[in-house]
Amino acid sequence: MTTYAHITGWGMSAPESIMTNDDLSKIVETNDQWIRERTGIHQRHIAKDGEFPSTLAVQAALKALKVANLRPTDLDLIICSTSSPEYIFPATACLIQDQLGATKAGAFDLLAACSGFIYALNMAAQAIRSGSIKSALVIGSETLSRFVNWKDRSTCILFGDGAGAFVLQASDQPGGVLSAVMHSDGSGSNLLTIEGGGSRHPATEATLHDGRHFIQMDGNEVFRFATRVMASATLEVLECAGLKLEDINWIVPHQANIRIIGAAARGLKLPMERFIVNLQEYGNTSTASIPMAMVEAIEKGQIKTGDKLVMVGFGAGLTWGALAAEWTGPLPSKGHVHPEQYRRFARLRSLVRRAIRFVEGLLYRREL
Ligand code: ACO
Repeated sequence: MTTYAHITGWGMSAPESIMTNDDLSKIVETNDQWIRERTGIHQRHIAKDGEFPSTLAVQAALKALKVANLRPTDLDLIICSTSSPEYIFPATACLIQDQLGATKAGAFDLLAACSGFIYALNMAAQAIRSGSIKSALVIGSETLSRFVNWKDRSTCILFGDGAGAFVLQASDQPGGVLSAVMHSDGSGSNLLTIEGGGSRHPATEATLHDGRHFIQMDGNEVFRFATRVMASATLEVLECAGLKLEDINWIVPHQANIRIIGAAARGLKLPMERFIVNLQEYGNTSTASIPMAMVEAIEKGQIKTGDKLVMVGFGAGLTWGALAAEWTGPLPSKGHVHPEQYRRFARLRSLVRRAIRFVEGLLYRREL
């Protein structure tokens, strides 16, 4: 029997705090008109102190689990796609696992910059199709504002913070993830990078002084690359799924710049109305941008059961990819679960596990 991977739950979260283009014009030499015309962005949401990728991810994940009617303890796998992990290690996915109390789930981070959500969805769908797992939580979560140089007007106007989460589940009903393509070209690794703090340039006074812990970007090169790959990846993933452009209801592109989306629309000879766009409100939330755009479109009633769509993205690496899916929604299930109630137990469980580890440590030392 063939197993299909369906997207059965979705949720998003954005920090409450909003930074408008006018707010930005008070800290760098820019203006609302330039940003709107050159990027399409009107505002972005910025994480406050105490808000982290795991905080936003858990809020989005609880909503996604509620839609899917699943408990955190039902999950087999958590993949967190992020370019702004809380630590080099442990993985942000493990922090999410602990906060959710997803006691059965394996957890890891995936870094493919803004293409990461597509890569992560594909990995989770393949694991489900292979029969090795039954359910997965895939999250894109970012607080890239922490890596933005607020003196660099060519990058600080672009990025915002947020998270989007999907639940994937196995079913023998056809549908769900239909096909995916993933590409990379590391010869462009210098075009968009955070150099400082890794093992090549560990954090030192010099790296701080030179601003190497900030996002550095060759905007024009990234722009050219993006306009080349968005249409080609869309056509490629459709071919893999045996579909034509006219079979597709929606294209959900990475929300980087309205002019990049416009170029993709022209390349595909599709009207802009077929593209889901919400970058005006959130800016470029990197790997969170595609799931956030999807969730808003589902909640507005744009994307409906039975619709076929393509998610397509590009980012640092360079990476790019696309994924075709047939939208099904939650699988039939009995009763109603309230995943948020598990949060309290998750906190308690985490404390108890730390306490047990502490006591075990004392006993082990006495035995030595
Ligand atoms: N406000 C006012 N003027 C500005 C600003 C600003 N914020 N930024 C640049 N300018 C000026 C420049 O100095 C330049 O002035 P000059 O002509 O006097 O030299 C002029 O505007 C044009 O600059 P360009 O860089 O050519 O502007 P462009 O129209 O290309 O827009 C932008 C720049 C928005 C960065 C664009 O290149 C872009 O969107 N690139 C893609 C970036 C992207 O998508 N990155 C994310 C990838 S995903 C990931 O992995 C994180």
